Amino acid sequence: MYDKFYKKTSQERRDILDADGRYNLELDTPLGQEIAEQMVENAVSTYELPLGVATNFLINQKDYVVAMATEEPSVIAAASNAAKIMRTNGGIQAHVKSRIMTGQIAFPNPKHSTEMQSYIDEHTDALANICHNAYPSIVKRGGGVRSISHRFVDGGDKTSFFIVYLSIDTQEAMGANMMNTMLETLSSYLQSKFDETPLMSILSNLATECIVSATVTIDPKTLKHSEDIGLRLKQASDLAQLDPYRAATHNKGTMNGIDAVVIATGNDWRAIEAAAHAYASRSGSYQPLATWDVNESGFIVGSIELPMPIGTVGGSIGIHPKAKLSKEVMRYESAIELMEVIASVGLSQNFAALYALTTVGIQKGHMQLQARSLALNAGAPLDKLDLIVAELTQRKPMNLETAQSIVSEYTKI
Ligand code: MEV
Repeated sequence: MYDKFYKKTSQERRDILDADGRYNLELDTPLGQEIAEQMVENAVSTYELPLGVATNFLINQKDYVVAMATEEPSVIAAASNAAKIMRTNGGIQAHVKSRIMTGQIAFPNPKHSTEMQSYIDEHTDALANICHNAYPSIVKRGGGVRSISHRFVDGGDKTSFFIVYLSIDTQEAMGANMMNTMLETLSSYLQSKFDETPLMSILSNLATECIVSATVTIDPKTLKHSEDIGLRLKQASDLAQLDPYRAATHNKGTMNGIDAVVIATGNDWRAIEAAAHAYASRSGSYQPLATWDVNESGFIVGSIELPMPIGTVGGSIGIHPKAKLSKEVMRYESAIELMEVIASVGLSQNFAALYALTTVGIQKGHMQLQARSLALNAGAPLDKLDLIVAELTQRKPMNLETAQSIVSEYTKI
């Protein structure tokens, strides 16, 4: 798919996407100052990131070109390379287990928690109706409250809480606004009914009911470094399961891909980061989100599971031209489909990192990009950049001082 895409110029890449019906020139405009001013307070300018596309993704038998916004070199190339390997192995299978958002209302040191518990259990439908009346449009769109639960937390020498959990089907939206509106309405109702003062009412980012998983099976013979690679990937996965210092880096690499798509599609990446790391810690020890094993046929099996509370409408998604452009490029039709794509990118990114780390190491593949970044940092003019980079990769040590001395040689009049 899009053979040798990385060798094209950016104009040629746009033309290829355009010919494939995936590019809309009208959306290829910067975020305007007027819009930026509507988005945040005290706006003075906008902040740009490179937007690239990862190719070769085959997910649930559908081809994807994936839009990724990132400042980190190698991320998009690594995702594309991993996706190519996975494509020759039948692609990635992804599945959304559930897409429900969770919110909570906390009542500190409650006096009537037993009465509140029975009341909620006996009047769940009536309470759901109170929430729906606060945000009726979601019911018309087929969503709404799916459950209301509660628990009492004995705080010991700290504060004790009665916590009400609200689960909502937010349809295509991430639904933070909808959730918080419903929670505040429900919380006022419970406050006046039970004379209990809520501490806070807010969406939870530990989105345990909004979960996506993805799996891939790879024949080691399809890999350049096939010797013991299954075992090495399994050991890398074991290491992350046993050592939180490694797990954090393992997950950081996975999030390199995930965040880039989340940002490109206009979603809240802090929400996805918070959800991912809280989920990774749910057993009490911080665990890898993606894991690798070898099956009885000797094939490598990778899987990932994490919360993915993204949306395809609302927030900056319908406002930011590049979020709209990313949608055109990727051609996802629903939030569920986008969740599946993002989890697949995370799995591919983790595979690419582990494959490099357990074979040739990470630096080899990064040399060229690192040299480019050093040359730019040293002030290399764009028209001499290729020459300076070529020279820098030959010299030792490859660092900023060497880059600066080459730049001054090339820019001497
Ligand atoms: C760097 O951004 C990401 C890696 O450190 C991930 C990993 O170690 O798995 C290469």
